[in-house]
Order: sequence, then structure tokens, then C-alpha cells
Amino acid sequence: GKVAVLAGGASAEREVSLTMSGPGVLAALLSQGVDAHAFDPAERGLHELKAEGFDRCFVALHGRHGEDGTVQGALELLGIPYTGSGVMASAIAMDKITTKRLWLADGLPTPRWLSLKANALTRERVITIPDELGLPVFVKPPHEGSTIGISKVIGYSQMQDAVQLAARYDDEILCEEFIDGPELTCPVLGEGEQAFALPVIQIEAVDGNYDYQNKYFTNSTRYLMGHLPAPLEAEVQALALAAFRSLGCRGWGRADLMLRKRDNKPFLLELNTSPGMTSHSLVPKSAAHAGISYEQLCLWLLSQARL
Ligand code: DAL
Ligand code: MG
Repeated sequence: GKVAVLAGGASAEREVSLTMSGPGVLAALLSQGVDAHAFDPAERGLHELKAEGFDRCFVALHGRHGEDGTVQGALELLGIPYTGSGVMASAIAMDKITTKRLWLADGLPTPRWLSLKANALTRERVITIPDELGLPVFVKPPHEGSTIGISKVIGYSQMQDAVQLAARYDDEILCEEFIDGPELTCPVLGEGEQAFALPVIQIEAVDGNYDYQNKYFTNSTRYLMGHLPAPLEAEVQALALAAFRSLGCRGWGRADLMLRKRDNKPFLLELNTSPGMTSHSLVPKSAAHAGISYEQLCLWLLSQARL
């Protein structure tokens, strides 16, 4: 049947989806003989999917109205099977604060944090945040991806600007303890008892900041695989799997973590339910390391599409 590759959307990550993940997935599916077509839900109503006879969707949208359960809800109502997590897990994972609360309840390690309402935040309150969480501290809009709106604050004087930047994207602000050590990521495929983790990637950005630029455009970021000692690799994979199950995810996802270097303890930051599929992206790199090609990965994800 006809497959729609949903890409674009209206989130801050629109460009990533429209110009990188979407075209990548589309080309891979076409190369495998799938009758796949690009579909941008920001340009056309999702109801057109039904009229045009699409019978499955590959969700290659990132961020709000794509990764957050809203599109998934619309597809449920239309009765069109789709890749990846369902409504609830998508909505939870899009909210870094709710995600952390669930992980904490399940005994999974995540950095200490404060969540604050942006409109109720006074200068006096902002300046006390580092007293509670230390410095550096991360200030994040809890519903964004691709590092958009995130600041790593190293001095009190930067707090106000960081909060204002995050408040441009969200009415809630997440302030999170800084974990000193390398950034790790670990993809998970499957569902429930059948779910399994792919190889862990340790990310080393040249300038130490794995930000929007370094995520999509820099070629000097290093991605180390098969790099951790085997027991630590297994520990991080088990943690990623537990994080995925804790939120009720299915199909695929990617847990992002920090590894505290002083004691090699991993901490969960977030779970991406519609991870990047760009030429620089992490899930394809990890899958390749496990012997799964980009085309095979796309085909497999599509085979898992359901309501
Ligand atoms: N939010 C981006 C697309 C990622 O997690 O890969
Ligand atoms: Mg993310």
C-alpha cells in the first residue's frame, strides 16, 4: 500500500525534519521498493491522508505537533497505522519534566532539577537557582529538541538571559544539575519484552558543546562506538531500555545520557521518540555499528507501524 513519510511540521525542528530526516527516510523506503510519498502536515491537513489512500505513516517529524502525541492522536482517529510510540508515551517523552518524574518514581537516575513557571519567575528567584543546583547548571525549555533554547550557565550573571531564552519556547522552565562527563546516547528498538538496545555512542563535540550546529552541520564531532568497557556498555543499555519501558514507548526511541566521569555513573536526560534520521544522526550510526543499514532500519521501523 501507499506509505506517507510525515516530515516538516510546524515545530522549531521543522527544518531538521523537512530537509534531513524526511528526505533520508523517503529515499531509503523508495530504494527498497516501498510506494512512499512525502507529506508535510503543516502544509496539508492530515485528513487528506485518508482521501489519498495512504494506509501507513512513517513519522519523521520532530518536536511539537509531531513527536508529542498530537499527530499520533490524529492518526488514531483516522485509523492509519504509524511508526513509533503511541499518544501517551509520545506526549510524556516530549515533556522532559514529566519524563524525569516517571524515571525518578521508577528508581532510574536522572540529574537533580527544578521546574519553574516562566511567568512567575522573578529575578530574585532566578539568581538562587545555582545555590540549589550548583554551577554550571542547564536551563532548558522542557518541550523542545535539538538543543533549541538550552543554555549551559556557568556564572550567576548569565542566569537571567538563560531563563529568558528558554521562556521564548515554553511557559515552563527546566533547570537541571550539570553532570560532568561525556554525553552518551543509546537507541532502543522494539516494544515491551521484545525491546532491545543498540550500541551506545559516546559523543565528543570539538568545542565540548553538542549543540544545534554540531548536531547537524559540523563534521568534526566524534562519535565513539564500542568505546566503553563492556560492563558499562551493558549498564547504559539496560538503563536506556528501562527508560524506554518506563515511559511506555514502542517501535523505537533514543535515550540521551550523561556519564559522570568521577564514578562512571550514567544519568538519563531525556528520551526522543522520533529521533533524527539525518546523515549526521545517532540512531543510524548506532544501527550501522550493529550491522543494520539505514535502509534496513527504515524498512524494519515501517514494519512495526501500528495503531
Ligand atoms: N530531536 C532530534 C531530532 C533528535 O533527537 O535526534
Ligand atoms: Mg531531544
